[in-house]
Amino acid sequence: MHQHMSQVLLDIALNLTSNQNSDAQYQHLIDGIDQVFPCDASALFIFDQDGFLVPVAVKGLANSVLGRRFFPKAHPRLEAIMQSKQPVRFDANCPLPDPFSGVLLSEEAELDVHDCLGRSLHVDGQLVGLLTLDSMTVGAFDAIESVTIETFAALAAATLRNIGQIKALKAQNKKQKHVTETLIQQARSKEGELVGLSPQINQLRSNIATVAKSDYAVLITGETGVGKELVAHSVHAQSHRSTKPMIYVNCAALPEGLAESELFGHVKGAFTGANHSRAGKFELADGGTIFLDELGELPLLLQAKLLRVIQQGELQRVGSDKHLLVNVRIIAATNRNLEQEVAAGQFRADLYHRLNVFPISVPPLRKREGDIPVLSGYLLEKVRNQFNIPNLHLHPKALAQLERQPWPGNVRELEHTLTRSALRAIQQNETIIQPRHFDSDLRPTDAQSASKYFPQQSAGLRSLVEEYQRDLIVHAYEKSEQTWSKTAEFLQMDRGNLYRMAKKLKVVG
Ligand SMILES: Nc1ncnc2c1ncn2[C@@H]1O[C@H](COP(=O)(O)OP(=O)(O)OP(=O)(O)O)[C@@H](O)[C@H]1O
Ligand SMILES: [Mg+2]
Repeated sequence: MHQHMSQVLLDIALNLTSNQNSDAQYQHLIDGIDQVFPCDASALFIFDQDGFLVPVAVKGLANSVLGRRFFPKAHPRLEAIMQSKQPVRFDANCPLPDPFSGVLLSEEAELDVHDCLGRSLHVDGQLVGLLTLDSMTVGAFDAIESVTIETFAALAAATLRNIGQIKALKAQNKKQKHVTETLIQQARSKEGELVGLSPQINQLRSNIATVAKSDYAVLITGETGVGKELVAHSVHAQSHRSTKPMIYVNCAALPEGLAESELFGHVKGAFTGANHSRAGKFELADGGTIFLDELGELPLLLQAKLLRVIQQGELQRVGSDKHLLVNVRIIAATNRNLEQEVAAGQFRADLYHRLNVFPISVPPLRKREGDIPVLSGYLLEKVRNQFNIPNLHLHPKALAQLERQPWPGNVRELEHTLTRSALRAIQQNETIIQPRHFDSDLRPTDAQSASKYFPQQSAGLRSLVEEYQRDLIVHAYEKSEQTWSKTAEFLQMDRGNLYRMAKKLKVVG
């Protein structure tokens, strides 16, 4: 083969592995033809899924051709090329209509007498496209050796296949991305919102909105059950990273010995059992957010590694010396007082300062003025949906009871209390949750029950005393394994007298 020609072919072969965009690659092929074959016009077609031949690069032809699609049946020359696995030549006298009539740019084109040559392009026996050459010089293609055409055709076919595969991969990738985003959106809508009307919650909302826009690290603090995780989701959802995932890491539950790999990944063979290389949570969060929950529990050794990733924006998988750049926003949460932990040497001061750029403190439930009624309404709605009980309500007395509690376990404790009392009410076929449905530590205390014996409004002494007697008898009866003889002993009175009194007070029928 000609020295010049092999250079052009080599050039095209190298181009196969380059990462130019597809249009540039098609054009590169056509430019190569121009250098190897004596022709005035050339075109590269791909055979699309609908059975059309679509020109993707042309030379010596009006660019308008690129906007056309050719149905082979309507263009006998193209069809003939398609059906052959050899080069097909049409000489100047060929009567078959020319698909490019009128679009040849050559000055002699109006004579409309020219030679044509075409070659179908196959990969693994499948048609992927075809090439056409036109020359104004009659007999121009006679001298071309078949091997040259074949070599070129093989290269062109491989190029088309490569581009096709890359396009398919990109399409798949795009689809995958779309699926991921949809799933994230769905998951988010299930996460629930930050309920509350108190000034404290409004302040929290405004802090979240301010912080969310930035890329700074956020440290969320607050007692257990106040909603730190909810706040973290809210920060991420309002950030410009919201279409990317927020990767969750529970620092208190990192598997021992595997914690570093969990966070930063590992390469194959990094340790016994590392049969495949694996990305860590930081890599998975690239472009998005990582949520380090229970940050206060992170072992000191990992604190050092985490600090390095934050400072340098790059990480190394366990067992690898390659540095990987990651772009991750960090949100951390803890119910510990990290300042105290730092003072006690349990938490690195430098890491604390890095993460504490934007502290968000979530107030305890007892400090949120007036939030218990709305939160109870919201949480009860959840219970109604969960158990499919549309008619379930909270008695005002029960609500008042809830409002008096200190709630050391905050919203989570309120939620559990409501769920348990709802279940008790449902079990007893009742639709209104009363104070007696609460856990025993929440039921009215003796002092509170006693208040009914000291009425705010006028009431007869006799009926008040009788009510007290009634309660006393019931109480004693419960304490006495529900037997009258023991109840009489408990109240230190005669069994007969007790029974008559119980009947008179309508404690027994
Ligand atoms: N303001 C709120 N509105 C609605 N639901 C809330 C609110 N705050 C908390 N919750 C709910 O209370 C429960 C506990 O919240 P979350 O898990 O976010 O608390 P936490 O602060 O992370 O607790 P811990 O420190 O124990 O991990 C969750 O079910 C959450 O949805
Ligand atoms: Mg939490």
